[in-house]
Amino acid sequence: MTTNKKENYTGKVAFVTGAASGIGRAAAVAFAREGVSVVAADVSEQNNQETASLIEDQGGRAIAVRCDVTRDEDVKAALDKTVEAFGRLDFAFNNAGIEPRKPAPTAEYEEEEWNRIIDTNLRSVFLCMKHEIPLILKQGGGAIVNTSSGAGIIDVKGSPAYSAAKHGVIDLTRSAALDYAAQNIRINAVCPGFIDTPMMSRFTGDTAEGRAKMIAQEPIGRMGKPEEIAAAVVWLCSDAAAFVVGHAMVIDGGQTVQ
Ligand code: NAI
Repeated sequence: MTTNKKENYTGKVAFVTGAASGIGRAAAVAFAREGVSVVAADVSEQNNQETASLIEDQGGRAIAVRCDVTRDEDVKAALDKTVEAFGRLDFAFNNAGIEPRKPAPTAEYEEEEWNRIIDTNLRSVFLCMKHEIPLILKQGGGAIVNTSSGAGIIDVKGSPAYSAAKHGVIDLTRSAALDYAAQNIRINAVCPGFIDTPMMSRFTGDTAEGRAKMIAQEPIGRMGKPEEIAAAVVWLCSDAAAFVVGHAMVIDGGQTVQ
């Protein structure tokens, strides 16, 4: 997917969560390539700083901000820093997330694990939008993209919290999209299939066998690349997507089509 209107991005500012790794880092780099100033937000300070340096080395503008997206005060402080550094907010990619520790059927699922997954993968998206929307409204509009998953489209056995969180991200996206469509904020979601990131390496144990198991579920016969999700995120924020509102865009090599 290519963006056809560079002017759309001139002087614009994007806030990206989970920017220290995988899909978030790829999106931060992709925004910066379009000329967008990027705020890389993540709990992982060192890797996050690496993302900002990567962008600067390529001639882009970025700052790294430490932010735990489950903490309201962190999210607010990170967005305050965004405005302090770049003066405005136009785009947000609420993407930080974690994978479950181990599968378990619902009745055996630990409440602590439920809370951890829902907090990081769903409540955080609410907290981020809560603080982003007033800033974007000040500019007269912009775009937000939230990361759901194939697990937001189909359900996963032994993974009640992750499935509920990712389904919830789609519903939260659609509900917020309705709230702000008339005020020129477009809110959409992406639903990645199996993407080759550090999260996927942890999930598969980084073994050939583990990877093959995931690839076997992909009709396209391979995992996706983080850049393939990033391209969709940048497009959803572009003027080319001006009529796309409350959409959950599936980018999954056909995984959820079967
Ligand atoms: P990753 O593990 O490579 O990167 C996730 C980033 O989020 C890390 O830098 C981590 O430090 C950060 N993070 C975790 N908890 C945080 C918190 N409380 N506050 C701030 N940052 C936090 O993962 P990946 O694969 O790039 O995943 C990104 C998103 O995409 C997640 O929401 C994930 O659920 C989703 N996803 C990933 C898929 C995949 O196959 N890799 C498939 C479908 C969805």
